[in-house]
Amino acid sequence: MRIDFDPAALDRNSFYKLLTSVVVPRPIAWVSTVSADGTDNLAPHSFFTISCVEPPVVQFTSVGRKDSLRNIEATGEFVVNLAPERLFEQINATATDFPPGVSEFDAVGVAREPSLRVKPPRVADSPVALECELHSTLRLGDSTVVLGTVVHAAVAEDVVVDGHPEVTKLRPLTRLGKDEWGTLGEVQEISRIRYADWDGRTGDRSS
Ligand SMILES: Cc1cc2nc3c(=O)[nH]c(=O)nc-3n(C[C@H](O)[C@H](O)[C@H](O)COP(=O)(O)O)c2cc1C
Repeated sequence: MRIDFDPAALDRNSFYKLLTSVVVPRPIAWVSTVSADGTDNLAPHSFFTISCVEPPVVQFTSVGRKDSLRNIEATGEFVVNLAPERLFEQINATATDFPPGVSEFDAVGVAREPSLRVKPPRVADSPVALECELHSTLRLGDSTVVLGTVVHAAVAEDVVVDGHPEVTKLRPLTRLGKDEWGTLGEVQEISRIRYADWDGRTGDRSS
């Protein structure tokens, strides 16, 4: 048995809560921007993913018109900072609806560092920064998808193993439903099976 939910029969918030509880876990883009008059802004966005490999493009969605979106429209630049577990409370605090003239970096006490290719600063304590130039925006109902071409990636030396960022060192936070957040669980590895090697078995291949 299943319970059916019809988006047309539910109010906006009820279906939004359902969607955000089932599209889980979501990675968190901690987005830094700078306003036209020079105020640095920082806010978490969990409607976030990779959109294109070549050119490298990432996207996040602004639900409604917020400072991050307005700043990107005005300046054409943003930085996606990875949201690590150890900065949990700071990340949550930067989601506070501070007025446009207030910088979350200053209000919350988040240390900045200059970016290499764009004007918005990076979060100094975040292990990864993806510096982006605005590619395009897509207006969808009450939301705006922001696509950014990654023009530079800066990764902390101490999370790199054999030239590659190591997830157990990155310790990314994720967003779940309601006010729930997730941390990295058990990491499992399995190789993808080439059709040439397919023998009809899908279970444990080690025995
Ligand atoms: C973990 C987390 C994820 C969030 N994800 C989004 C999101 O994907 N899109 C969005 O519009 N707001 C999201 N929010 C809410 C924004 O961070 C919040 O509205 C913030 O005040 C926006 O800041 P700004 O006006 O400086 O851009 C999220 C909040 C949290 C705590």
